[in-house]
Amino acid sequence: MNKTIRWGILGCGKIARKFASDLALVKQAELYAVAARSTETASSFAEEFRATKAYPSYQELVADKDVDVIYIATPHALHYEHVMLCLQHKKAVLCEKAFAMNASQAKEMIALARSQNLFLMEAFWTRFLPHYVKVKELIREQKIGTIQYVHAEFGFKPSEPIAPRIYDLNLGGGSLLDIGVYPIFLALDLLGAPDEIFANGFFASTGADEQCAMQFRYRHGATAQLFSSFQSNLATGADIVGDRGRLRLTHRFHGPTTELEFYPSTVDTREVIPFESAKGFGYEYEAQHVTDCLLNSLTESPLRKLDDTLLLMETLDRIREKIELHYPADSA
Ligand SMILES: NC(=O)c1ccc[n+]([C@@H]2O[C@H](COP(=O)([O-])OP(=O)(O)OC[C@H]3O[C@@H](n4cnc5c(N)ncnc54)[C@H](OP(=O)(O)O)[C@@H]3O)[C@@H](O)[C@H]2O)c1
Repeated sequence: MNKTIRWGILGCGKIARKFASDLALVKQAELYAVAARSTETASSFAEEFRATKAYPSYQELVADKDVDVIYIATPHALHYEHVMLCLQHKKAVLCEKAFAMNASQAKEMIALARSQNLFLMEAFWTRFLPHYVKVKELIREQKIGTIQYVHAEFGFKPSEPIAPRIYDLNLGGGSLLDIGVYPIFLALDLLGAPDEIFANGFFASTGADEQCAMQFRYRHGATAQLFSSFQSNLATGADIVGDRGRLRLTHRFHGPTTELEFYPSTVDTREVIPFESAKGFGYEYEAQHVTDCLLNSLTESPLRKLDDTLLLMETLDRIREKIELHYPADSA
């Protein structure tokens, strides 16, 4: 099958640049069109990343009949509007995290995609990275036994100039939706929906959460200890502990890494599982997966299912209720 999937990018910001660069590594895919809110941004982005078309509005991108799939790279508060726009124009969609502002928006987005038989996926790149695929394999093979504890943290101190979307509630600001999604993803993916959630939020003057400490409890005895922070540069590591062994993702567990630590029995017996360095920034794996799904006419990823995305959004809602974090989108 020699078909090429033609990608469009909606929003030419920071993450769009990394994604566009990585798309060059994806087989049977091409960056065909990009759209920004201004002609200058769209044109210079298209020139730099060799896209055929540059549109000065998102509306023109979705109207282009030759675009197969659109990657949405705008701030979270705009994901609902932009996903709906793409789906209404019959485009397949890969949407950045946080997928939406709340579960209610996510349900509508998913319902529209399903009713139109259109592909939709949350851009949860971690799920597709080689080290995380290995984590899933080791767990499936019972190498660490039954998981009893997950610890994961994600923290960085935003550097100046701080992007408005980091703290502005109107753009979905706050650590929970921006980076808290990664530790939460790990707990949900490995342990499922928690029976009980405890959470503490620490707030910036804008009302956005600057830090969020969470504990998930499970009836079967497992727990997860999770943390997100815009106040400290953390290792952003994770421990996955089973009754027969332990896996340790030493730093930046959400992104590409060259090693995974495996402790098969006692705390002292360490095996290091090596990985080749990613050729790109690490977004090529999710982009290849979406391209393959589309080449095989799938309307949903078998690896990052829409129900997984909905569970993440529902869990974020539960946490936000505990820490009393409300967004303007909640009352829309
Ligand atoms: N997967 C990952 O590793 C990862 C990493 C970073 C960020 N993200 C996610 O990607 C999304 C974008 O993050 P980013 O860091 O790329 O943000 P960014 O640099 O601020 O880019 C966002 C882009 O959205 C467009 N936009 C449209 N309306 C806007 C508005 N009212 N205010 C601001 N921007 C607006 C702008 O593009 P134009 O002006 O070009 O139209 C802007 O360049 C977020 O949801 C974030 O969580 C994911």
